[in-house]
Amino acid sequence: DDTKAGVKGLVDAGVTSLPEIFVRPPDELVEELNHGHSQAKVPVIDLNGIEIDDQRKSIVDGLKRASEEWGFFQVVNHGIPSSVLDGMIDGTRKFHEQDAELKKEYYSRDRMRKVRFDSNIDLYHSRSVNWRDTLTINLLYYNQIVPDELPEICRSSAMDYINHVTKLAETLFELLSEALGMELNNLRAMECARGRSFVCHYYPACPEPDLTLGVNRHTDPAFLTILLQDHIGGLQFLHDNNWTDVPPIPGGLVVNIADLLQIVSNDKFKSREHRVIANRIGPRISVACFFIGVAVPEKIYGPAKELTADETPAVYREFTVKEYISGLFSRPIDKSGLDNFKI
Ligand code: SIN
Ligand code: FE2
Repeated sequence: DDTKAGVKGLVDAGVTSLPEIFVRPPDELVEELNHGHSQAKVPVIDLNGIEIDDQRKSIVDGLKRASEEWGFFQVVNHGIPSSVLDGMIDGTRKFHEQDAELKKEYYSRDRMRKVRFDSNIDLYHSRSVNWRDTLTINLLYYNQIVPDELPEICRSSAMDYINHVTKLAETLFELLSEALGMELNNLRAMECARGRSFVCHYYPACPEPDLTLGVNRHTDPAFLTILLQDHIGGLQFLHDNNWTDVPPIPGGLVVNIADLLQIVSNDKFKSREHRVIANRIGPRISVACFFIGVAVPEKIYGPAKELTADETPAVYREFTVKEYISGLFSRPIDKSGLDNFKI
C-alpha cells in the first residue's frame, strides 16, 4: 500500500538516503555520463508571424534545421497564454500535493486506464526505479475528454491546457509537413495529433541526486512530444553524443521529434534520446504531451511515399499500430523503438 503514496510519500515519511531500488547501475549514473557535457544551445523557434508568407518560410526553414540536426527545439510566441501554462503546472502540483488518500483513488498499474496516478510505469523496462510520480491522462482511444473523469483539483486547468496544446500540435504538424516538403497539411491529415497522452510529472527534491535519475534515457513512442516544464530544469538530450541541457524558458515549450515521425520522415527528422536528472531541490513539475496518431490496431504506418525514391530508399518497413505497441512492451532495454522496423 505504501507504493500508492509514490516517491513523494517516501519524502514525506522523511527518507534521508536513497532506498536501494532507486540506485542506478554505474553506467547510468550522471557523474559517469556527464563527461563531455555540452554547452550547445537548443534552437528556439519564434512562431510569431506564421500567417505572413515571408515569415512563415523562415519559420519552416528553422524548424527543418532543428528537426534534422537536433531533434529538440523550444517554441516561443506559440499562442498559448501564460496563464494557461501556469495553470497546468499549478494544477499538476496541486494534484500531487493533495492528501495521499485522495491520490490513491487514481492509483493503478493498468495502462488502459484513462486517468491514473502511479510512480514509474515506464513503457520500457528499467533497471532501477525513477525518482518521480506521474498522473497520466490517456486520450488514446477516445476523442472526447469527459471533464468529470479528470481529478477535480486540476480539472479546469487540464481541460484548458489540453485544448490549447492540441491546437498547437496541429499547427506544428502543418509546419513540419512543409519542412519535409510534403503536401501542405500531410502530417495533419494523417491525424498525428489525434491520439494523445498527457503525462504530468512530479519530481520531489532528492536526498542523493547523484545516485539516481528522474527519468532514464529513452526516445518517445509518438510522432511528437510537447513538453511544459517549470523553472527547475533537469531535462537533457543526446546531441553529438553529449548530454545537452534543455534550460527552461519562461512561457516557452519544448518540442521533440519522436520515433514515429523519424520513421514517417524516413530518417530525415531525428528522435533523440533524453533523460531527466534528479535534483536536490524540488519539486520539479513537467507535463509531457505525446501525440501518437490514430490508435486503431489495424492502422498502418511506415515511411511516407513522397519521401522515398531510388536514391532514398525506405529505411523502415510498414507495420501496424498493434505491432508497434506490442514491440514497445517487449523490447530489451538497450533497443530503441525504431530498431524493430529497420529494413
Ligand atoms: C520525459 O521525457 O518523459 C519527461 C521529460 C521531462 O520531465 O522533462
Ligand atoms: Fe520522453
